[in-house]
Amino acid sequence: MVSIGNVSIASPLVLAPMSGISDLPFRMINRSFGCGLAFTEMISSSSLAHKSKRTLRMLSSGMDDRPLGVQILGGDPDIIKRALEIASEYSFDILDFNAACPASKVVSKGKGAWLLREPVKFQKLLKVIVENAGVPVTVKIRSGWDETSINAVEMALRAQDVGVSGLFIHGRTRSQGYSGRVAYHIIKKVKESLRIPVIASGDALTPYLVKKLLDDSGCNGAVIARGALGNPWIFRETGEYLKGGTASFSPDVYEIARTMKEHLNLNVAFYGEKSGVIQFRKFFGWYARGMTAKALKVRAFNAGTGEEMLGLIDELRTTSY
Ligand SMILES: Cc1cc2nc3c(=O)[nH]c(=O)nc-3n(C[C@H](O)[C@H](O)[C@H](O)COP(=O)(O)O)c2cc1C
Repeated sequence: MVSIGNVSIASPLVLAPMSGISDLPFRMINRSFGCGLAFTEMISSSSLAHKSKRTLRMLSSGMDDRPLGVQILGGDPDIIKRALEIASEYSFDILDFNAACPASKVVSKGKGAWLLREPVKFQKLLKVIVENAGVPVTVKIRSGWDETSINAVEMALRAQDVGVSGLFIHGRTRSQGYSGRVAYHIIKKVKESLRIPVIASGDALTPYLVKKLLDDSGCNGAVIARGALGNPWIFRETGEYLKGGTASFSPDVYEIARTMKEHLNLNVAFYGEKSGVIQFRKFFGWYARGMTAKALKVRAFNAGTGEEMLGLIDELRTTSY
C-alpha cells in the first residue's frame, strides 16, 4: 500500500497520464484489471483557465474512477492559480504538475520539461500549486534536460521542500524523448534522497520490466504507460508476477474481444457514437497488435459506426490467432 498525502493506493501500479489517451473510458478499462491509481491526460492550465469545453471534459470522472490524479501543465503562476480554481469544482484526489513533457511546442513556451532548466521557477510554481490545489500535489520530472545536465535529485529535493506529497520520475532526459536507455540508477538516487513516495517511469512494458524498474530503483510504485496500450491485462499479469505467481494471466481472444467491446461501449457513452468510434480506431490497432489481422486493422481505421466496429471485433475474434 502506497500513500500520497492522505490518499491510499491499493496497488503500486499506476496508469500514466497520456495525452490523447488517458480519458475516462481508458482509465475504467485499466482499473478493471487492477491499476491502483490513474491519471487524466495532461491538461493545459491556460485552456482550463479559459474553460475550454474540450479541456473541461478531460476532468469528467465517475464515482468508480478513483483514486484519480489530474495532471496539469503550465508556466505562469497566475494562470495556474485560475486553473486550480476551476479544477476545484471537479472531484479528484491528487493534482500532478508536469515538468516532464518533451514536446517542442511545450518546451518552447517554457513549460513541461523546460522547467528542468529553471529549478528556481519550478520550485516557485510548485509552491503556488501546493498552496492552492486543495488536494495532495505530486510532480512528474525527468532525469534531466540532457545528459550533460542531469539534475533530478536537485529538482526532487526542491519539490519536497515546498510540500509536494509524491514524485514521479521518468528515467530519461528530455533529449532522449521516449527512446534510449532508462537510467535506473538516477531514479534510485532520487528515491534514496527523498522522504516522500517516489514512483518510477520508463519502459514498464512487461511484468518482467515493471519488476526490474521497481527492484532496481527501490521505488514505491511504477507507472505503466505504453505497456497498457491495447493491453490493460498488464495490470493483472504484473500484479500476479509481483506476488511471485507464475500462472499466466494472458487473455485469450474471447477476453480480448469482450474487453474491446466494453471499451468501445464506454467510448460511445462518453463521446457519442461518431466521436467514440473514431477515438476507438487506434485502440483497435493496439488490441490487435501481434494478431494476423492486417486487413481488419485497415477496415477499423475507416469504421464510422458502432455497429461496424462491433462487427470488426467479432471478425477479429473468429478469424485471428
Ligand atoms: C502517447 C503518450 C502520451 C504521453 N502523454 C503524457 C502526458 O500527458 N503526461 C505525462 O506526464 N507523460 C506522458 N507520457 C509519458 C508517460 O507517462 C511515461 O512517462 C513514458 O511513456 C515512459 O514510460 P514507458 O516507457 O513505460 O512508456 C506520454 C507517453 C506516451 C507514449
